[in-house]
Formats: sequence, C-alpha cells, structure tokens
Amino acid sequence: MILVTGGAGFIGANFILDWLAGNDEPVLNVDKLTYAGNPENLAALPGDPRYAFALCDIGDRRGIDALLSRHRPRAIVNFAAESHVDRSIHAPGDFIQTNVVGTFNLLESVRVYFSAMGPGEKAAFRFLHVSTDEVYGSLDKGEPAFAETRGYAPNSPYSASKAASDHLARACFHTYGIPVLTTNCSNNYGPRQFPEKLIPLMIVNALAGKNLPVYGDGQQIRDWLYVSDHCAAVRRVLEAGRPGETYNIGGWNEWANLDIVHAVCGLLDEMKPRPDGLSYRGQIVHVADRPGHDRRYAVDARKIESELGWRPAETFSTGLEKTVRWYLDHPEWAARVQSGAYRDWIEKNYGARNE
Ligand code: NAD
Ligand code: TYD
Repeated sequence: MILVTGGAGFIGANFILDWLAGNDEPVLNVDKLTYAGNPENLAALPGDPRYAFALCDIGDRRGIDALLSRHRPRAIVNFAAESHVDRSIHAPGDFIQTNVVGTFNLLESVRVYFSAMGPGEKAAFRFLHVSTDEVYGSLDKGEPAFAETRGYAPNSPYSASKAASDHLARACFHTYGIPVLTTNCSNNYGPRQFPEKLIPLMIVNALAGKNLPVYGDGQQIRDWLYVSDHCAAVRRVLEAGRPGETYNIGGWNEWANLDIVHAVCGLLDEMKPRPDGLSYRGQIVHVADRPGHDRRYAVDARKIESELGWRPAETFSTGLEKTVRWYLDHPEWAARVQSGAYRDWIEKNYGARNE
C-alpha cells in the first residue's frame, strides 16, 4: 500500500481519486484536516476497502511512527503543506511549522522505518516529496523557464518553507540513502481547489456577483497545469523516477493573471450567463498588489518528458472548461467551504486592499 499525506486537500484528493480509479493498491490518507483539508473531497471513498484515513499531523512523530509500523507502506507521497502564498504573508509561522518542522519530523520517522527494512524492501521503497516551482523565485520576461539545475531563490514565506523542505528531503537521500524523489510543479487548477486561489476564487466570486480582485496590474505570469496531469506526473515519477532526482512538472502554458480572469469570465458568460445579460468581466477590479509578488514562473518540463515520457493530457482550454463546469455542478461544495473562517480570511486579505 501507499501512504499519502495531505490527501484531503486539493491535489492530494485528486491524486487519491485518480489512483484508485486506475489501481487496486490501497491508500492510507494521513491528513491533519486544516482549513484546506476537506473530507467531502473523498466522500465517494469511505467504505471502499482500498481506502483508509488517519487524522494525524505529519509533524507528530509518535502518530506517524505508529502508522508506519501498522500499515508498512511501500511508498509515501508527501502532499501535506500549508500552500497559500497570501496566508504565508499574514501568518508565516504555520508554514514553518508544517512545511519545515513537519516535513523534518516526517522524514525522521521515515528514517527509522527505512533503517529497519531488509535490502529488498529498501530498494523498492520510495519517498516522493511534492513541491513547487516557486522555490526557484521569479523570472524576468524572456528568461528561460526553470530547469532542475536552476538555483533556489524563494521570495515568499511559503516558497522559502517549501525550499527548506526540499533541502531536507534531498539530504535524506544523500546522507541516509533513503530513495527520495522530488517534484516541483507549476500552478495547478481543477476541481476541488479551495476558493482562496486565483481560479476558483474568480469563479465563486463571479457567480456570487462579487468583485474579481486582480492584484496590481494583473500582468504577473504563471504556468498552469490541470490537476489530473500533475497527478499523472507524480504517479509516473513514483513508478520510474530515479531516486535522488528532482523532476520539474509543467504544462508549457504561461498566462498573465488578467488574461486568466478574462478567460474565466468568458466561459461563465457562455455556460451561466448573468441574469442581466452583461459580462462577468464588469466585476473585475484592480486591487493593491501582493507584497513581494513574483512576476513570472515558467517550467521547463523536458526532463520528465524525455526521461519518463510524461506529457499533459489537457490543454488549457479543455482543462479550464472542465474546471468551470465542476464548480457550476457543485454549488453545495463551494457554499460549504465558504464558512465563517473562510469569510474571516477574505476580510483579512482583501479588506485592506483599496481598489
Ligand atoms: P491544499 O492547501 O489544498 O491541501 C493541503 C492539505 O494538507 C490539506 O488537506 C491539509 O489539511 C493538509 N495538511 C496541512 N498541514 C498538515 C499537517 N501538518 N499534517 C497533515 N496534513 C496537513 O494544498 P494543495 O494545493 O493540494 O497542494 C498540495 C501540495 O502540492 C503542497 O505540498 C503544495 O506545496 C504542492 N503544490 C501545490 C501547487 C498548487 O498550485 N496548488 C503547485 C505545486 C505544488
Ligand atoms: P495563487 O492562486 O494564490 O497562486 P500562487 O500565488 O501560488 O501563484 O495566485 C495566482 C496568481 O494570481 C498570483 O500571481 C496572484 C494572483 N492573484 C490575484 O491577482 N488575485 C487574487 O485574489 C488571488 C488569490 C491571486
């Protein structure tokens, strides 16, 4: 069986659903259920004998030790993290605690677990650490996309904490021989993404008749990948990646934020026109920029393409349409996650940003 951390979050939940759709190997989902963890994402699974859930912090040494000795996973995929840049600006301590200390404690548990294995089990074991392209910092226009050889230059508390966790994972391979794989993926979008991130926030705000807040001039560029393409890449790296290596994952799909917001509005105009017949584009407002806002990310995905034969299946237009369709088809999901705590966050992040 495999152990997945953070499986109640956006990418982890999609990963578990995709995994079990194509595979009978059981999954243990270990999640602390922070604000971003939503058991409803996996509502189809309880009762499925291939799926088990454990409420546990990745930083809880005793809890993780017990789970490892009880379930004896042949691989661990570590998605668990605090993942939102704006929250890392308001409360960086949570990011240090989970992304740095939590990952360190998890690796310590894995070190003990791994050291007691026989040679065959050791050779087959994998620890796959899921990370982000944001560890590389910001690109100028015209600079080549991030390759795996690029130096780390994180600029936000989020990316700095992820960079630290990548280094700890790397050290475990070099020092203790644990077969660690690291993936650094670009921005994901798709079903079940918490509506604090750009694309789902724009969809739920548009439908609620609220403003669509674009930071600064909206010309910041991100490289977008549909979530199931990321999940397929993680499965492929787990299956055939070389221990100790890192793999950058991206869709060769750079977009300026403002263009994305226009694309979302265009889809909504077709799929669920406003009652007054006007375009959702009228709800776009420019608000104060994010401090330290990285200008551009772009991923050079040639290594995973040539070594492992992975390529994205979705184009941006098919992926974005599926995403908007999912949110239109799941209004109850979106309503339930916009709880009191969510409203407090929206007030904290957007209340002080003048248009
Ligand atoms: P998310 O915020 O939606 O989900 C995070 C999950 O981790 C939640 O279920 C949460 O409850 C759980 N979690 C948080 N702290 C925990 C802890 N201490 N112990 C156990 N569980 C804990 O995040 P996501 O967008 O699904 O991202 C998953 C991973 O992928 C993260 O490591 C992130 O850095 C990385 N990543 C995300 C993106 C993206 O665009 N979302 C892109 C590249 C890489
Ligand atoms: P986000 O989804 O938070 O991902 P990340 O910061 O990890 O790239 O943001 C994507 C881009 O969209 C980023 O440049 C910030 C911008 N953005 C806005 O303009 N308005 C918003 O309300 C949000 C949440 C993000």
